[in-house]
Formats: sequence, structure tokens, C-alpha cells
Amino acid sequence: MKLAINIDHVATIREARGENEPDPVIAAGICELAGAAGIVCHLREDRRHINDRDLKLIREVVKTKLDLEMAATDEMLKIAIDTLPEIVTLVPEKRQELTTEGGLNILADKSRFENIISELHSKDILVSLFIDPDPASVDMAFEIKADIIEIHTGKYANVRSEKEILTELSKIAVTSRLASELGMIVTAGHGLNYQNVLPVAAISEISEISIGHSIISRAVFTGLERAVKDMLDLLNLKK
Ligand code: PXP
Repeated sequence: MKLAINIDHVATIREARGENEPDPVIAAGICELAGAAGIVCHLREDRRHINDRDLKLIREVVKTKLDLEMAATDEMLKIAIDTLPEIVTLVPEKRQELTTEGGLNILADKSRFENIISELHSKDILVSLFIDPDPASVDMAFEIKADIIEIHTGKYANVRSEKEILTELSKIAVTSRLASELGMIVTAGHGLNYQNVLPVAAISEISEISIGHSIISRAVFTGLERAVKDMLDLLNLKK
């Protein structure tokens, strides 16, 4: 099990004042020094947090692996090819949403995804697809040659009753097993925090967890290094 950290919300705080601090580039370095196995950032079409300058510098400083989250657009494909992250995670993107609300609808735009995946593969970039915990999406991801599926854990994180939590966990586990049997790497993320991460991390097929908001939130009080280490300790990961 590995921990990748999404640093978007360091930039969200910066953008709240339109100033030049806090700098997500420095956050990337601190997360790596604290033991993160990868850095994730989402370059949105509206540049509401991470911007082009950030991405360029983050690419330069990240020594573990950089996972660029992006929408499947021509503009983003060009940026990815110029930036050469180790991984691109394709996510759905809506202008009005506060955060990525659901997994990709691969079927709706299958040939676009297929083309983008093949362009990225030609540059040796691994491609992850952010999907809901649903077997049909796994089959589709496999068909269009995704390397990784990232399972959207947002619904698991939001439901409240024990019964619903178990239902969501079981969907995540079934989806993980299927993808792993098909030879794909399985990761998970969205809405995971210090209280709810362990049952997801216990699913053996999931090799990496991606967390942003809860770690950056804790960092406001404890500092970023401590917040990263607290999560690594919880996950029982070596620093
Ligand atoms: N994975 C993906 C694909 C995401 O879009 C996000 C949110 O940007 C995350 C993981 C991290 O979610 P959170 O900030 O809720 O930890």
C-alpha cells in the first residue's frame, strides 16, 4: 500500500487571496520528504487552483512520481505531452462542481478516451481512469487499455449508516478484484480521511490511496509534514 498526496488545495488557499502563497510547489517537496510515494495535482480547465506555472515547477521538483489529473480534452492532452508526468488520471470535469463528483462515463466517449490513452502510451505515460465502483466500467477501462483504475470512494465517504457503508465497501472490493484479475493496477481516492481510510486500505487489491483535502486540512493545524506522517502512521507505512 502506498500513499499519494493531492496538493490542489494548497493552491486553493493561495487563490482565495490571489497572492503567491502558500505555494503548492513547496508542498510537493514537503510531502515527498515526509514519505509520500507520489504527488497528484489536477489542472482544471478553469485553473481554479493548480495553474500552468505550478504544474511546470511541480514536474521539476517531484522525484517520486507525478500523477496529473485532467479532463480528456485536446488542450490537456497537449499539456500532458509537454509535461511528461509518470501517470495521467483522466477525470470527468464540470465547471460548476466543487470537486470531481463522479466517475468517468467511458461509454459516452469511448473513442476519445481510446485515442487519448494511445497518445499518452506513445509517450510512456501510464493512464489511470477515475471510475465509480462498478464492474461495467472496469470492463470498459480494460477494453480501452487503461493501465490503472482509480476507484471513486466519494460515495463510501459520504454515506452515514453502517449498512450503506458496508454496501459501498463491498462494491469497492468487488470492483478492485475484477480489475486486478484483468491485470490492471487498482488505486482509490476521494473523500478519504483519517477516520474512514482504513477499511478501504484493507482491500488487498488496492495498491495506492490518493488523498488531498483531509491531509491539507490537518496541515493547517499541525503543519504539512506532521499531517503526512500521521496518515502514513495510520496506514502503517514506512516513512
Ligand atoms: N482522486 C481523484 C481522481 C480526485 O479528483 C481527487 C480530488 O481532487 C482525489 C483523488 C482526492 O480527493 P480528496 O481531496 O477528497 O482527498
